[in-house]
Amino acid sequence: MDKLIIEGGVPLAGEVRISGAKNATLPILCAAILSGEPLRVANVPHLRDVTTMLELLAQMGIGVSVDDKLGVELTAAALNNPVAPYDLVKTMRASVLVLGPLVARFGEARVSLPGGCAIGLRPVDQHLKALQAMGATIDIEHGYMRAHAKRLKGARIIMDLVTVTGTENIMMAATLADGETTIENAAREPEVVDLANCLNAMGAQVSGAGTDTVRVIGVPRLKAANYRVMPDRIETATFLAAAAATGGEIRLLDTSAGILEAVIEKLRDAGARIESGTDWISLSMSGVLRAVSVRTAPYPAFPTDMQAQFMALNSVARGTALITETIFENRFMHVQELRRLGAQIEVEGNTAVVTGVDHLDGATVMATDLRASASLVLAGLIARGETAIDRVYHLDRGYEAIEEKLSKLGARIRRVH
Ligand code: EPU
Repeated sequence: MDKLIIEGGVPLAGEVRISGAKNATLPILCAAILSGEPLRVANVPHLRDVTTMLELLAQMGIGVSVDDKLGVELTAAALNNPVAPYDLVKTMRASVLVLGPLVARFGEARVSLPGGCAIGLRPVDQHLKALQAMGATIDIEHGYMRAHAKRLKGARIIMDLVTVTGTENIMMAATLADGETTIENAAREPEVVDLANCLNAMGAQVSGAGTDTVRVIGVPRLKAANYRVMPDRIETATFLAAAAATGGEIRLLDTSAGILEAVIEKLRDAGARIESGTDWISLSMSGVLRAVSVRTAPYPAFPTDMQAQFMALNSVARGTALITETIFENRFMHVQELRRLGAQIEVEGNTAVVTGVDHLDGATVMATDLRASASLVLAGLIARGETAIDRVYHLDRGYEAIEEKLSKLGARIRRVH
């Protein structure tokens, strides 16, 4: 199994390009199910989750071609197998995003129930409740959700909680439904907006994405389109946090500060100087790194996908920080590993109390999920001596060419097989 070896202590310096957003790409690829004509997607990141999604779509009978310039073309002219099998869903929960589009276009879907995962229970009850409100019949059989509908009907849907993929699934389903759908208490994440823009480029009528009420007027069919995926805000923020934690100076290209305000504000509180233009962000760190408390919540608040990385940053900051996780019930798996490197962290319920220490010491640690592994990379970059990160495949789900990018910024990092 691959390991990443990091020799810490080098301040990151230089320029790198940010990839397309994983969490926008995954729903956008699923949007191809909604149309019989080609959807060409540009700026697709080369990631394990994206490959898994393309595999899933191909085995349903969708035409998939990938070029060497981060472009993918998908054509769902016909489909012979509207199924998301257990083996794929268990490796990637975002597979549930095929459910809404399949029922909307083909009238049926069979998708494995996801089950628990490393960061929490993550049920999909809101996705199912909304599809039922739109007239779908749903049965749970042998661990699979079976959904049927002749044609979905527009409905008023009030989500009980803010769910990103739930909002995306229902928004996609509603594009081909009969009449108007409103999704209230919708997720406002930029990736929801990116999906809405893609659907509109395909001829859908979606408005209000980015607010808590999304309106969709159903149309009979969608058409061919070209769409470029937005930059990855979590990759961007991870690099910024790594530069701040190592006392470095970096410039990130092909990204945007407008989708990251909560994180940028916290980095400034930590002592970083941040500047930005339309498609770049730079960060430089000169003074002392100060502890910053964060509380995760749906966008535009601080993202849960950056919580682990801020834990690593705070572990060597001056002062004490409180890190409160309100989205997932079990997203502190990195605490044990960071402690092995010398971090001082106590967990009380959903809050971690991090007291900054003078330095971390390299050790062998184990990645447990994608963002936990990113926090271990940050810790490895800060630590004295060598850190070996085991189960690095978690990192490959969401960070494109991470060791190349970090090497380019001067980090001493390598992968061993
Ligand atoms: N929830 C329910 N019922 C539902 C749906 C969600 O109880 O029907 C709960 C979840 O268990 C969780 C909360 O609602 O406690 C929010 O979950 P949400 O549905 O918003 O999460 P998601 O859509 O499954 C997406 C991202 C995650 C990111 C979260 C929160 C994708 C593909 N995944 O997941 O990304 O953490 O939103 O922002 O967009 C990652 O990239 O590392 C990652 C985990």
